[in-house]
Amino acid sequence: MTTTGIAIDTTFDDTSIAVLRGRNDLLANLTLSQFNDHAIFGGVVPERASRRHLEVIHPLIRRALAEAGIGFDALDWVAVSHKPGLMGSILVGLATAKALAFSLDIPLIGINHIEAHPYAGLLTGTGEMPFPIVHLIVAGGHTLLIHQTAHFSWSIVGRSLDDAAGECADKVARIFGLPMPGGKAVDEYAMTCRPGSFNFPKPLIHQDNFDFSFSGLKTAMRQFRDKHADTFDKGEVLSAFFESVCDVLVHKTLSAAERHGVRAISVSGGLAASRRLRQRFTDAAEASGLRLIYPPPQFCTDNAAMVACLAAHKFEAGRVSDLRLTAEPNLSE
Ligand code: KG4
Ligand code: ZN
Repeated sequence: MTTTGIAIDTTFDDTSIAVLRGRNDLLANLTLSQFNDHAIFGGVVPERASRRHLEVIHPLIRRALAEAGIGFDALDWVAVSHKPGLMGSILVGLATAKALAFSLDIPLIGINHIEAHPYAGLLTGTGEMPFPIVHLIVAGGHTLLIHQTAHFSWSIVGRSLDDAAGECADKVARIFGLPMPGGKAVDEYAMTCRPGSFNFPKPLIHQDNFDFSFSGLKTAMRQFRDKHADTFDKGEVLSAFFESVCDVLVHKTLSAAERHGVRAISVSGGLAASRRLRQRFTDAAEASGLRLIYPPPQFCTDNAAMVACLAAHKFEAGRVSDLRLTAEPNLSE
C-alpha cells in the first residue's frame, strides 16, 4: 500500500514542511527562510527563531496540504526532526507534530535531521541507497563523515573538531566583506576566478583520521586579509581558499570510502549546494570509479523533503515513535 505522510523540520532557522507519497513522490515541499529576520544580528538569534517558527508553522502546513491537493484525513503518518538543533526551534515542530499525530490518530516518526540529509539524494528518482556507503554531510554547523551499511544502521567516522566547513566559508566571507550566505558568495568566486598560488592550509589532510578542523584555515585567511589590506585580487584569493576546503573534503571522503571498502559516496548539507564542490566530487568519483549520490541544490540546504524520505523508510520498517519523543539539541547517533 502506498502511504502519504507529512514531515516537519524546524531544527534551525528554516521552517519546512513536506508532503510525500510513497518513498519519493514529493507532493509539496515548502521552506520559509528566516534569513532576513536574523541578518542584522549577524547570526541566528534562537529566541527569535522559535517565535518565527510558531508564527508560520500552521499556515505553512495548510499551504503544503493545499499544494499536495489533500486534506488532513489523507495522512498516514507525521514525521518531525527532533534532533539536533536549537532547543526552542525543535520544540515548535515537535509540539505541532505530536498534536497532529494525536488528533489524527496516526503514527509519529522522530527523525535525526543529520541522518536525513543524505536521503535528499533519493528524491530525484535515483532509486535505492547503494549500501554500504560513506556520506559527507556539510551542513552549516557540522561537517561529518558517516559510514552507513543499511537503513538506520550508521556511525559517525569523522567530524569537525571546531568550525565546520560551511561555518568557515561563512566567516571567511564576512572577513572579506561578502554577503551571506557566505558559502554561496565564495562559491561564485570559485566558479568564476582562477585560484592564485597562495598555499593556504589544508587542515588535517595528511592525518590518518577522518576528522576536520577548519578554524586554522579561517585564521590564516584573516591574517592574510590583515597583512595585505586591499592589495590582492579577491577572486584569486577566495577561489584558492575554497580549493583548500574542497581538497580536504574530497580527500577525506575518498579516504574514508577506501578505508571502509565502499564503492558509493554521497554529499549533502547546505555547502553541498556549491557548484564548485559538486564539480570536484563529480570529477573525483569518476576518477576513482565510485558511485556518487549528490542531491540537486534545493535539496542540499535544509528541507523537510529529506526528512519525509527517511520517514517513509522508517514507517515501512515499523520504526515509529510515541508521544513521549523528546527534543534533543545535541548531535547523537
Ligand atoms: O544545511 P544548511 O542549510 O543549514 C544548516 O543545517 O546549518 O547549511 C548552511 C550552509 C552555510 O554555510 C551556507 O553558507 C551554505 O550552507 N550554503 C551554500 C549555498 N547555500 C547555502 N554554500 C554554497 N553554495 C550555496 N548555494
Ligand atoms: Zn541541515
